[in-house]
Amino acid sequence: MRGLILAGGFATRLRPLSCSKPKLLFPIVGVSLIEWMARWLSSDGVKEIVLAVNHLSDKLKVEVGHTIGDVTVAFSVEEKPLGTAGPIRLAANLLSKDDPFFVINGDIVSDIDIRSMLAVHKEKKAAATIALVSVPDPSSYGSVLTDSDGVVRKFAEKSGAISSTNLVNAGVYVISPIVVGHIPIGRPVSLERDVFPRFAENGGMQAWIHEGFWYDIGRVSEYVRANKELLEKEAPEGGPAVPGAQGGMHILRPAYVGAKSRLGVGAKVGPFTILSNNVTVGDEAIVRNSIVFEETAIGEKTIVEDSVIGERVVIGRGSRIGRGSIIAGQSIIPEGSMVPPDSIILC
Ligand code: GDD
Ligand code: MG
Repeated sequence: MRGLILAGGFATRLRPLSCSKPKLLFPIVGVSLIEWMARWLSSDGVKEIVLAVNHLSDKLKVEVGHTIGDVTVAFSVEEKPLGTAGPIRLAANLLSKDDPFFVINGDIVSDIDIRSMLAVHKEKKAAATIALVSVPDPSSYGSVLTDSDGVVRKFAEKSGAISSTNLVNAGVYVISPIVVGHIPIGRPVSLERDVFPRFAENGGMQAWIHEGFWYDIGRVSEYVRANKELLEKEAPEGGPAVPGAQGGMHILRPAYVGAKSRLGVGAKVGPFTILSNNVTVGDEAIVRNSIVFEETAIGEKTIVEDSVIGERVVIGRGSRIGRGSIIAGQSIIPEGSMVPPDSIILC
């Protein structure tokens, strides 16, 4: 089975972290989102994926390359954003013309069983099969009403949420080639606003309820929640060994320390702290309840708490990064800086 990952938005809700880094390259417990997705899809037997991209597409092409593990990657590049349905039409030649394919929003971390979705899709002879998850507040998602046979009767995106259900669109679909012909060529089209409501009305859409883990990391708060919950699930033992670490540093679990990261003497890392690859934490520095992207250097005696620090940031010695701060990739914070709580340091 082949499929398309929608990876072309501007990720405005992840700014300023997304100014220099496409969402697909965001680290989730030290591993990029696209690698999480490739592992998930590969375990469901997927061998080929197409990435539908526009914003930062060159960076993605270079960083992702043509394979991830045993999954082959092709790119479909939009000159201008085509929404969530337009890219499917654009990439039609790279997808199957005869068999159903999957489409996934490029900000989902999950273990949705695509094989079972496909089996249901075929059995019910659906035009589209949509994975649903239950969330406490459906208002920022696409909400979906089904009948007792799991046929979707209503699809309402965001403001039009259906109050009687907490089941929402998980952003993972199996789609039959027939749907492609319903998507106009060359202009932005929304699956959620233009395509699904119509298929729901004529009974062509099947629901598939997912009960495993699921995150849309498209907002900073959800990105942080995904990291912390998956940290507890994936790395309860504190992650890999710490190369180059010297005596006297402490790791409080749960914590993840990426390859080639170095902790100085007396440095304290954790709990709930994720250091991606190649992060340096200076002597006697403290990093607590925070996510640090790759190649960032935190100076001696600096304190970082409840924050997200982008890639290749340099924080000078003796600084204090207040709780709730977000620091854009490649920022330079001078020695002795006092960054107030909830600061956003732009790119
Ligand atoms: N290629 C391409 N081109 N991709 C795009 C474009 C575009 O013009 N616009 C958005 N995307 C991608 C985004 O990068 C993202 O991966 C995906 O399409 C969905 O867009 P979001 O902006 O993340 O939408 P959302 O999270 O508000 O809502 C969507 O996901 C929810 C589940 O997380 C909808 O599908 C909701 O119905 C759904 O509940
Ligand atoms: Mg999203």
